[in-house]
This record gives sequence, C-alpha cells and structure tokens, in this order.
Amino acid sequence: MAKPSFSVCDFGVTKYGEQAKKFTLKGAGGVVLEVSDYGGKVVRLFTPDRKGKLKDVVVGFDSPAGWDSGDPYWGCIIGRYGNRIAKGAFKIGAKKIKLPALNNAPGGIGCNLHGGQRGWDAYVWQAQPFVKGDSVGIVFTHVSPDGDEGFPGRVEAKVTYTLTAQNVWRVDYEATTDKITPINMTQHVYFNFKGEAGGTIEDHILKIAAKSFTPTDKGQIPTGEIRAVKGTPFDFTRGMRIGEMINAPSEDLAIGRGYDHNWVLDKGQMATGRKPRQMIFAAKLTCPLNGRTVEVYTTEPCLQVYTSNWSDYNQTAKGGEHLSFRCGVALETQHAPDSPNHPEWPTTFVKPGEVYKSSTEFRFGTDC
Ligand code: BGC
Repeated sequence: MAKPSFSVCDFGVTKYGEQAKKFTLKGAGGVVLEVSDYGGKVVRLFTPDRKGKLKDVVVGFDSPAGWDSGDPYWGCIIGRYGNRIAKGAFKIGAKKIKLPALNNAPGGIGCNLHGGQRGWDAYVWQAQPFVKGDSVGIVFTHVSPDGDEGFPGRVEAKVTYTLTAQNVWRVDYEATTDKITPINMTQHVYFNFKGEAGGTIEDHILKIAAKSFTPTDKGQIPTGEIRAVKGTPFDFTRGMRIGEMINAPSEDLAIGRGYDHNWVLDKGQMATGRKPRQMIFAAKLTCPLNGRTVEVYTTEPCLQVYTSNWSDYNQTAKGGEHLSFRCGVALETQHAPDSPNHPEWPTTFVKPGEVYKSSTEFRFGTDC
C-alpha cells in the first residue's frame, strides 16, 4: 500500500480577485483527489475501474476561470443553505427574513439557491492539508459575516475532506453561529465514471435507499407532499439505469427536465423521526461499462439527485472537452429543500451555542 501524501500548487486568480491554490491528495488505497481552496472545488478525482485502471471521474476545470465562465456548482462546497428557499423568505419565530438574492428562477419563479448570489462556493477558504495515520486530507475553514447574502448570524464553517486507505472520501461539515440561522451544507460533485468527456451518465445504474420523494411546484419548491416512488419514474429502490425512465411522460420530470429531485432516505430522520447523526446508506452509482462504483453514506435525511439537465453547458473542461447535456450526476446529501418553511420536517435552524454537524462518505469501489 502506498503512503498517503499531499502536494500544493498555484491554481490562478478567481473572478473576485482571490488567489487560489490546488491540493493533490494521494490516498493509500489508490484514489487521488485534486481540490482547490476556491470553494473546496473538486478538480479531479481518480478512481480505479475493474481492471485497476485509474481515471478522472468528475467534471471540473484547470483554473478558476473555468468555473467562472458559468457554473452549475461543479464539485464545490455549498453553503450556507444548499438547495432552494422559496422566494428567499422564511420566518425565525415571528421575525420575517427576506433574502435579497433571488439568484434562481425555475418556471420564472424567483428563489434563493445554494446560498445566494455569492454562496460559499465562490470564496477562497483557508486550507490546511494533513496526513494522519494512513489517511490524507484537508481542512477548509471559512467565516461568513452576519448579513451575508441576507442571512442572519456570523457563521464559522469548517469542512474536512479525508481520503482513507479504503478509498473512501469522507466529508465532515461543522458550523457555529452567533444568531439563529438556517444551515444546510452539501458537496456538489458531478460524477461520470466514463470520464467527463464520456458523454451522458444515462447508462449509469443508480440505487437510492428511498421509498419516497418530495414533489415540487413549477418553481422547484417542494409542495409539502411526501410521495411514494412506487410505480413512478422515481423508483430507484432496486437500482435502475438513470436513462431508463428519464424521458417518461411525467409532470415532475418535466419540471426538472430530468432528475432534479429530493429523495427522503428510508433510514433517515425525516422518514423515521429518529435521531440524526447516524451514518446510513443513501445511494449507489455503478457504471456497467467499467465497473466503477460509489456508495454514498450520510448522516443527512435526504438526497438531491441532479442529472445536469440544463446543458448544453457550452463550457470546455480539463482536457479541452465540451461538456454535454447530462454529462454528470450529482448526489447531494442534505436536508429537504425549503426546510425553513416546513416546521414539520427536520430543522435546518442552528442556534448560538449549537454545533451544526453533517458527514457524508463516498465509498469508491468496483463491481466485477
Ligand atoms: C439543483 C438544481 C440546480 C443545480 C445548479 C442542484 O443542486 O437541484 O436545480 O439547477 O443544483 O447547479
């Protein structure tokens, strides 16, 4: 087994004028993760196929300019609030909060998406790489001031990426605040096990440990219904090719132009009402062509699956490839979208004195 190691190099300047770096983490199990301190963005991620051949399996760019040319949040840390908040409005007690940034408008209906105009993905974070035992990793920290994008409270956030000798990429999130505020962090990596130039991910097989999902209105805001997946194109309980039903006649699929929905994980807090913080199996993605797999485990109650439906992205990725329609799939562990407006769902509000905690593992392997 190789020794875990890391190295660092310059990555260029962001459109906000911040100097970014890139870190290469070499795991003892063979997986290699290249990440930038620019929003924790994943630049490359090499995993072995069934013959042991490594390939970069994420969509990313060779410099901040790539991301800055147009960005559906490729591979970054999302904060302070991942996913949508209807009209950017919610209440804390009797106090009405209205976020100024309605940075997204599906169906022509404005909402706050992924933290607003300049979410946490668009900042250079403090970064501290480490080797600990047979793992290698990096600790990212960021301070979001009170009033950032309209959110109340100064939040200190910490995200740790760890690459283990078992080819697990673990993401641990922590945050504290000095005023009550909603926090819902996630990682927005887009996988394509054929490589980012490999075309569509419709041939990948996806299994999701969820018997229900949260349908949305035309603005992609949950209606409040928790609907069974049985008999719908959203039934991935036994594993299904992503492309199998993606074009089926369905109002819900039409709203997302494909899969862009939140599944309620069977063993998670939202489905069971039991306490959070236990690692549960969420999903498995398999590429039948080369055998690459990832299993997603998380402490979160839900999973947003997004099949990059708003392309052609008209962007050029690392190898000069054109990023095509459905070139990646994001498996975003999270609380349900618009949770601040659903007191009946597990809360995303964090109070002063509490520590927001969330963990997700991407366990890479192969199916023979
Ligand atoms: C959302 C999509 C959105 C995408 C932006 C996903 O997390 O679910 O609706 O278009 O992020 O990149």
